[in-house]
Amino acid sequence: TGWIGGAHLLGPGLPGLLLPSRLPLPRPYQVPLPIPPVLDPVRHEAGTDFYEITQRVAELDIIPGVRTPAWTYGGSFPGPTIVARSGRRAVVRHRNELPEPTVVHLHGGHTPADSDGYPMDLLLPTGDAGGASHAGHGAGGLARGSREYTYPHEQRGATLWYHDHRHGVTGYAVWQGLAGFHLVHDEEEDALGLPADDHDIPLMIVDRSFGADGSFLYPRADARPHSHGVAAPYMNGVLGDVILVNGAPWPVMPVEATRYRFRLLNASNARRYRLELDPQPPGGGGLVQIGSDGGLLPGPIAHDALDVSPAERFDVVVDFSRYRPGTRIRLVNRLGSGSTADVMCFDVTGPAGESRPLPERLAQGPALDPGRAVATRTFHFQLRPDHGWSINGRPYEPGQVLARPRLGTTEVWRLISDFHHPVHIHLDPFQVLSRDNRAPGRFDAGWKDTIDLHPSQAAEIAVRFTDHPGTYMIHCHNLEHEDMAMMADFITE
Ligand code: C2O
Ligand code: CU
Repeated sequence: TGWIGGAHLLGPGLPGLLLPSRLPLPRPYQVPLPIPPVLDPVRHEAGTDFYEITQRVAELDIIPGVRTPAWTYGGSFPGPTIVARSGRRAVVRHRNELPEPTVVHLHGGHTPADSDGYPMDLLLPTGDAGGASHAGHGAGGLARGSREYTYPHEQRGATLWYHDHRHGVTGYAVWQGLAGFHLVHDEEEDALGLPADDHDIPLMIVDRSFGADGSFLYPRADARPHSHGVAAPYMNGVLGDVILVNGAPWPVMPVEATRYRFRLLNASNARRYRLELDPQPPGGGGLVQIGSDGGLLPGPIAHDALDVSPAERFDVVVDFSRYRPGTRIRLVNRLGSGSTADVMCFDVTGPAGESRPLPERLAQGPALDPGRAVATRTFHFQLRPDHGWSINGRPYEPGQVLARPRLGTTEVWRLISDFHHPVHIHLDPFQVLSRDNRAPGRFDAGWKDTIDLHPSQAAEIAVRFTDHPGTYMIHCHNLEHEDMAMMADFITE
């Protein structure tokens, strides 16, 4: 099947194709919620923390009684969490002991181009003797065995994450386990008295399917590097039937009757979620959003439900003192059905508690002024019968540049989509100005780096690239769309 053969399988807005697991699914709410390990620096220098991560195959216990071989950062899925401070540099040395090349991208990072994880800047495995067929194309070039990625963290506190970004194979590599949290804290956040430490919980939500042998099942088209990584019928996205939170199927978390901060990340390849607490607390509004992709909001926003597309982050506070001790609260997915309608649950333990209200004002970051935009650009995200997923009619080709924004200026970008496309822009966050010439949506508040474009929609965003000249990416974060070339280079200069 070629592109057209794949295309006819799509209905408008169809979210992807379900790949059923080949082993019996476990019952929900049996496994305690794991918290990914926090990575300790191997050393410090003035202003810089040094980290080391070995990418390797590890056997994980995900489904009770089943072993799952996975591609991991440091032996766990999610990988270890890097906890950083705004203004303090981190240098992360990655060593690749996996069977294939990799690329590390810090999603949401304000990162120099040579460390941004350009899809051709491969980190070859330690054992890879070849090289003639590989070429680095970006500023980061090609490395063998190990390489350093430098993150200056000249950015606000925010929930970032890191994941693989290799050209054409990102969907496969992330599905195999290459994803982790990278949190940035700052003083503005410190001063607010938000829930912290063991009441500040990252939640990475993914869907996966499992083969009969316990391995992660993925319809990979071809094992050769540089080939598009998914079989054509799955070109609108691979959906699994098992929901994992922090790598555990439908886990359960005991909570005290007080406030918790949850950093929700949808790290799924293609699945969108509508997350809701069931039951809602009396009066509703159980998910109080305090932050989005790019850090804290100006003030909290109470939601009954949250739509979360791939790569988006929502920082929420849930106040369990609004529930009676002994209550079991499910976090459900209203866009799912059957096994994918459940996500995880919280069991409120006694004694009954009381919580201080959240501050009404959170972060005071200035808004971008679209009236000062020096350029307006349009990007069409669409399916082309001749070459599949494309931006402005072109499938991705490394080195082909779609835009050259000037550093230090504000631009307005019009993003137009045919189906659902979670569009992500590297380097700097943006603000949503409008959707279909109307006000932004309920989930668009704050600084975003990924916008959930709906079918047949035109959104406008304001974006300002401040510093770091070089080659960056704009792409759909449905990872199968990305691998099937819905991506473009832009160069800041
Ligand atoms: Cu999270 Cu370019 O990706
Ligand atoms: Cu897409």
